[in-house]
Amino acid sequence: MNAPKVLMVCLGNICRSPIAEGILRSKLKNLDIEVASAGTSGWHIGESPHELSIEVAKNNGIDISEQKGRQLKLTDLDYFTHIYAMDTSNYRNIIDLCRTERQRCKVHLILENNQSVPDPYGHGFGDFEKTFDLLDTACSRIVNELNTSNI
Ligand code: 4NP
Repeated sequence: MNAPKVLMVCLGNICRSPIAEGILRSKLKNLDIEVASAGTSGWHIGESPHELSIEVAKNNGIDISEQKGRQLKLTDLDYFTHIYAMDTSNYRNIIDLCRTERQRCKVHLILENNQSVPDPYGHGFGDFEKTFDLLDTACSRIVNELNTSNI
């Protein structure tokens, strides 16, 4: 059984997916599970996470300040075992890049019931706090799923 490798994906890879990466990594510490994040766009390659993402994570004891933005690449669809999209638009964009059913089966919306994590970009700190809370709940669910799955 190969260890899971989890990729969190949003549009810019500076607001939502860096928070998701940080939360999941903190919940999985000590486990041999790789966690990364990427953007479907290449708009913020090499940039640090948004300052409000860094702040909300820090307020919750998680340091994401060393992360750097990167764009989703086709090889990610083979390398990672679980790919979580932050919203339906990113989900659709990732699915459109998939060339095999095996790749498509790895891609999920991070929230249940076809819900999206609203994009906090351009909004205030309160929206980043809501983002954090949504992702914290989602990552707890993912930890349980990883623990009970055989993948
Ligand atoms: P993210 O938010 O997808 O959660 O990282 C965004 C960040 C930047 C932009 C859009 C969304 N942008 O238009 O630059």
